[in-house]
Amino acid sequence: MRPGRTLRLAPSLLSADFGALDAAVDAATAAGADAFHLDVMDGHFVPNLSFGPALVRAVRAHTRLPLDIHLMITDPVKYFPVFADAGGSTLVFHRETDADPDALLGLGRDLGVQVGCALRPETPFERVERWVERLDQVLVMTVHPGFSGQKFLPEAVPKLRAARELVDRLGTGTDVSVDGGITAETAAVAAEAGATFFVCGNSVFGQGDVATNLAALRSAVTRGSGHAVR
Ligand code: DX5
Ligand code: ZN
Repeated sequence: MRPGRTLRLAPSLLSADFGALDAAVDAATAAGADAFHLDVMDGHFVPNLSFGPALVRAVRAHTRLPLDIHLMITDPVKYFPVFADAGGSTLVFHRETDADPDALLGLGRDLGVQVGCALRPETPFERVERWVERLDQVLVMTVHPGFSGQKFLPEAVPKLRAARELVDRLGTGTDVSVDGGITAETAAVAAEAGATFFVCGNSVFGQGDVATNLAALRSAVTRGSGHAVR
């Protein structure tokens, strides 16, 4: 095994039962989830609507785990303060918006949150490269954003490798996050390519038992990464 790399699993609440969200959060926490991923959609940046700050606030009141807020919205500058105030730990904006990454990095620092940048499957890694040194997370989407339960797009794997290679070269410890279609099988592929933060929706909350599902994902990422897990 190579030296330790911190590998984290973040169940995506979009796939949970919204009528019993507390129970979903409790089950995943008891099963060893490392964070929760919350998908905010505005019906404009993506063709779907999900939830806003009120739900983030409710989850924040219920768990101490980090909340990873994936902002699939056209105006992240306007909403960074709102989601920081609601209790987000990491605010992830999309590079395809008009927002200036430098401005969001500065805003995030002022607000006391971590900042991530997400890339749609068709957006090349070069579009984020020059900010990686200052980002806490680079999120590589392996489905088209907007819906849970889609199939993992293997053509995004080289982007994970490129992100891993740059982060290792810079030595920043920036998380390389993967989101979309993560199952035990694809999680191992993503881990091998260098992902450290795994967003999993349907594979945690879809079928079967949350604890069994998370255990299968945990062993897949450990196996795939070839790294001792810290
Ligand atoms: C899709 C979202 C994902 C989604 C993942 O737009 O960004 O976070 O919840 O769900 P699964 O793991 O089912 O693909
Ligand atoms: Zn997401």
